Amino acid sequence: MSNQPSLFIDLEDRAVDGLLALMLAYRADTRENKLDLGIGVYRDDSGATPVMQAMKAAERRLAETQETKTYLGGDGDTGFIARLAPIVFGEDRVPDPRLVGMQTPGGTGALRLAGELVARHTARGRIWVGSPTWANHHPILAAAGCDIVDHPFYDRSAMGIDFAGMMEALEAADTGDALLLHGCSHNPTGADFTEAQWEAIGALVARRRLVPVVDLAYQGLGRGLDADAFGARLLFDRAEVLVVAYSCDKNFGLYRERTGALWARAAEPASAPRLHVAMREPARASWSMPPDHGAAAVRTILEDEELTRIWREELDTMRSRIVALRNGLAAAHPGLAAIAAQTGIFSMLPIDREAVMALRRDEAIYIADDGRMNVAGLKPDDIARLATALAPHLRR
Ligand code: LMR
Repeated sequence: MSNQPSLFIDLEDRAVDGLLALMLAYRADTRENKLDLGIGVYRDDSGATPVMQAMKAAERRLAETQETKTYLGGDGDTGFIARLAPIVFGEDRVPDPRLVGMQTPGGTGALRLAGELVARHTARGRIWVGSPTWANHHPILAAAGCDIVDHPFYDRSAMGIDFAGMMEALEAADTGDALLLHGCSHNPTGADFTEAQWEAIGALVARRRLVPVVDLAYQGLGRGLDADAFGARLLFDRAEVLVVAYSCDKNFGLYRERTGALWARAAEPASAPRLHVAMREPARASWSMPPDHGAAAVRTILEDEELTRIWREELDTMRSRIVALRNGLAAAHPGLAAIAAQTGIFSMLPIDREAVMALRRDEAIYIADDGRMNVAGLKPDDIARLATALAPHLRR
């Protein structure tokens, strides 16, 4: 046997993705007081991630009325796309003959297609990405064939955006380069652009004729549905073209149902059909047609005024809880004060990897290796414990 060639060649011992490994490590920990601030899921005051009430009602309705599971086609549930578009872009922008959209498996599926568009249909296949970014952005974009250029985004010790550094670096971007932007509630830092900063980004994108790719995964969990779409809408108005990768996994609580969408806005209506084909091709080659359930349930909510009202209310409650937790953390230690001004479920703590590991080992507190904390994983009673555990590692 030993002389036989191996069939799977060049396999290496490589670590599993950090966030997935963290989920496993947390599950394996038998300490009763363990605290999961790792993977990005919203939790309520009791530590649960319940199915939203509007979602439950929509799912019941679907179970009772759905008569077939036959294929819907490559674009998935087109009613879902049509109902979601005004929430993302605002009632007055859609429909637009330049805009095409399709359902994708989660925001990840949308990002993969966005990466394919950049790799195949821009001048150099190059995309600029701020540091740090969601741990899966690089692997997704690299797998799609993009040439990734990192630019500064966040000043970790100041716990704020290095906007001057970012804009200076982006002056080196060439016409046709893509620029990845987090629409709201930046993952992993929680640091969002101000409206004035979005204006400056819009001006740069228009002047240099860049291709903005907005990753909008937390709409409604930051400042509110409209405020969280400010950047995407501004770029809709200012940029020559636009790509938006959208996730319903957090704001509809759908996570494992993997529900997302990709929109692309062409420069003029005549090229929109070709852009649509360019999105469909890599989708067909990867998942063929997207899974139905999550999108059908979102459509069911958005088709019904009362369910939409309940969903919006539930989203408001989730956001208020996150804001209260942020304020509690900021008040608990001067070194955490910046957390109050950030939005969404994540914050990047100003601590090093050694401190992250010490928290895990000594305190059973799990945050991501890079110091990212899921704020929404806290119960109100956890704040004092966390602040005490962090105190030796924080500057005052
Ligand atoms: C996260 O960043 O924790 C989430 O978006 C889940 C994931 O797939 O990484």
